[in-house]
Amino acid sequence: MKFVDLFCGIGGFHSALSELGHECVFACDSDRDAATVYERNFGISAHKDIRDCKDLPEFDILCAGFPCQPFSKSGSQEGFEDKTRGTLFHEIMRIVRESEPSILFLENVPNLHGHDKGNTYSIIKESIEKEGYRFWSSILSPHTFGTPQIRKRLYMVAIKKEYCNSEDFEFPSCENPITNVRTLLDKKSTVPKKYHLAEEEIEILNHWNFFIQNISPEVTPSSPTWSQEFGRKYPLEKIHPITKPWRITVGKLKDILETEGIRYSTSRFRSEVLNHFPPYIVSARKPLPEWKKKFILNNREKWEEISIDIGYEWLEKTRTFKQTYQKFEWQVGGEERDIWKHMIQFRPSGIRVKKTNYTPALVAIAQIPIIGWQQRRMTPKECARAQDFDVDGLKGDEYILDSSDSRAYKQLGNAVNVKVTREIMSEIQDYIGDKYGK
Ligand SMILES: C[S@@+](CC[C@H](N)C(=O)[O-])C[C@H]1O[C@@H](n2cnc3c(N)ncnc32)[C@H](O)[C@@H]1O
Repeated sequence: MKFVDLFCGIGGFHSALSELGHECVFACDSDRDAATVYERNFGISAHKDIRDCKDLPEFDILCAGFPCQPFSKSGSQEGFEDKTRGTLFHEIMRIVRESEPSILFLENVPNLHGHDKGNTYSIIKESIEKEGYRFWSSILSPHTFGTPQIRKRLYMVAIKKEYCNSEDFEFPSCENPITNVRTLLDKKSTVPKKYHLAEEEIEILNHWNFFIQNISPEVTPSSPTWSQEFGRKYPLEKIHPITKPWRITVGKLKDILETEGIRYSTSRFRSEVLNHFPPYIVSARKPLPEWKKKFILNNREKWEEISIDIGYEWLEKTRTFKQTYQKFEWQVGGEERDIWKHMIQFRPSGIRVKKTNYTPALVAIAQIPIIGWQQRRMTPKECARAQDFDVDGLKGDEYILDSSDSRAYKQLGNAVNVKVTREIMSEIQDYIGDKYGK
């Protein structure tokens, strides 16, 4: 069959569908770097903005992993066309009306389901059904197909009614095979130095390793652990010092620090004294919600329980770290308490340690998964394996990534997983079977 690859990125859909023998006749993406990678691998020059794509060649399947935007909730008398106007989904529907493809194959983040209280998803479904398609969707992740990455995505399939064999389309069945990140990795000796952790990063992780190894095995660390609350006593009712009526004087703030035994700056300036309080307190514009207070209190209590084992020196050093390094999430359950045996990620929400069975979903350049036992980040090529791109040329030509690492990580973080896409496409083929008379 012939397909078009809208919002093609670096070609997750293309890789999957061409493995099954389908032919791409048109692609578009506004990102020129992604388009360059696409052209290098597939020999197709992607058009730019979808809004300028008119008169597409004939095709059977429309593929699109489109950016999600809110729709208008305007009055019910208006058609779906009006509700979607101005969004990129509107452009997909314009092409659907112009070209009447037999199959639509769409992908998005799972949140699309609940986006705008379910409004966005309903409009997508109803707009497609109105054009004479049956519509199905499912949330799937590569880890249930044997690839060690958890990446839940919403896959939507729509088929013109005349090609439907039954009301039910079955998405590929998921199992939970045992997977291990090690299957994605190159040998440590072949990995360039630039992927290895910096000394400062190793020091920070060793510091948290001391923490996890010195609390008694019977004690589970709070999840997440906010060390900013360890040893703190500041009142939770009145410590929103910026906005009236909670504004309190610099002198009072210093008194609080005194009772907490925190060495504070001698400055008269509020902003400097405030540096000794966690940013989520300093920036709070309203009283803290109950759940947050409870959470803070839990962390304070936990410190009471473990402070003898950990020691004040450890805490004082932690307080010198930047905020995201003061938070810690231990997500390996009962497994060995050694950070260096697991996967690690530096996230805005803190340092997260996870089991070695999956990589976390590839998202942003700043959060590239770290392989604890090799004290290094995953390379773009290893991330591409987690997305099932054929970077080793096991099925034909080797897939070539962007020459810039930061661009390659970003493009892989945007891409659709090739294996999941291929499995769904196989099911689509089985479902339409002989009905598709081409
Ligand atoms: C989620 S990514 C899709 C990635 C793709 N499925 C892949 O496997 O690499 C969405 C893409 O939409 C592109 N995009 C955003 N606005 C666009 C527009 N107006 N026209 C064409 N492409 C656009 C972005 O550059 C991005 O590459």
